[in-house]
Amino acid sequence: MGRQLAGKTAIVTGASSGIGREAASLFAREGARLVVVARRRAELERLVAAIEAEGGEAAAVAGDVRDEAVAEEAVSVAVRRFGGLDIAFNNAGTMGEAVPVPDITPDGWREVLDTNLTSAFLGARHQIPAMVARGGGSLIVTSTFVGHTVGFPGMGAYAASKAGLIGLVQVIAAEFGGQGVRANALLPGGTDTPMGRAAMATPEARRFVEGLHALKRLASPGEIARSALYLASDASSFTTGTALLVEGGVSISRA
Ligand SMILES: NC(=O)c1ccc[n+]([C@@H]2O[C@H](COP(=O)([O-])OP(=O)(O)OC[C@H]3O[C@@H](n4cnc5c(N)ncnc54)[C@H](OP(=O)(O)O)[C@@H]3O)[C@@H](O)[C@H]2O)c1
Repeated sequence: MGRQLAGKTAIVTGASSGIGREAASLFAREGARLVVVARRRAELERLVAAIEAEGGEAAAVAGDVRDEAVAEEAVSVAVRRFGGLDIAFNNAGTMGEAVPVPDITPDGWREVLDTNLTSAFLGARHQIPAMVARGGGSLIVTSTFVGHTVGFPGMGAYAASKAGLIGLVQVIAAEFGGQGVRANALLPGGTDTPMGRAAMATPEARRFVEGLHALKRLASPGEIARSALYLASDASSFTTGTALLVEGGVSISRA
């Protein structure tokens, strides 16, 4: 077990699956106490049990990240049970319908924006004061290359929500840097998770997406989790307000 996050408490949203689950497990192995958030309670309880079986500490908050009460509860559990909050990985997300912009329904648009962007704002409202009270912290959001370096057809709401996250962390970084709070966006490339696989319904679609990356493959969720660990830990102590591409060269590849 490494100790990069010894003595720290972290919230990870979207921890029932994929990148979030890997990140929560990794943060725990690195010594952090975890508050894990997602809608699927059974998955969260399995994760908590696995962390505890390895000698770690974790608590589950089952709920929808669009609900501010869930954001408040996660911070409250971090403070009451573990004594404070140092790290927040606001990672829960949804892709929405893959349709051209004129075909996105206003309800579909709002669902994606609420889940991907407003959720991070609601989280930050409660996480930042807790971090300031602690003398600082690291706030991370999961954005994507889509809408930042690449316009991907069928992803209008997703791209807008994820680009919005980059603006949000820039402002948080500027507002709270003086109080020791860092805020960064992590921009994964195609990642082999349930969400990533849902976007590649056939073997041909998967090969196509793999081929868009300079590395000619998808990321494993563990590779993205390690980059989240970098942003969470003191290894990135002078990094704030950034959009960190961890995308296998999908932004620079034309082959
Ligand atoms: N996979 C990729 O290729 C890729 C690339 C770039 C960025 N990303 C981003 O990475 C993040 C993690 O995605 P993933 O690939 O790990 O997908 P995933 O395995 O499908 O995980 C998505 C997570 O988000 C949670 N979630 C979704 N809607 C929620 C809601 N309303 N309330 C609470 N939790 C919610 C899900 O939990 P419940 O269903 O239990 O609520 C799940 O834990 C997302 O923000 C995604 O946009 C993914």
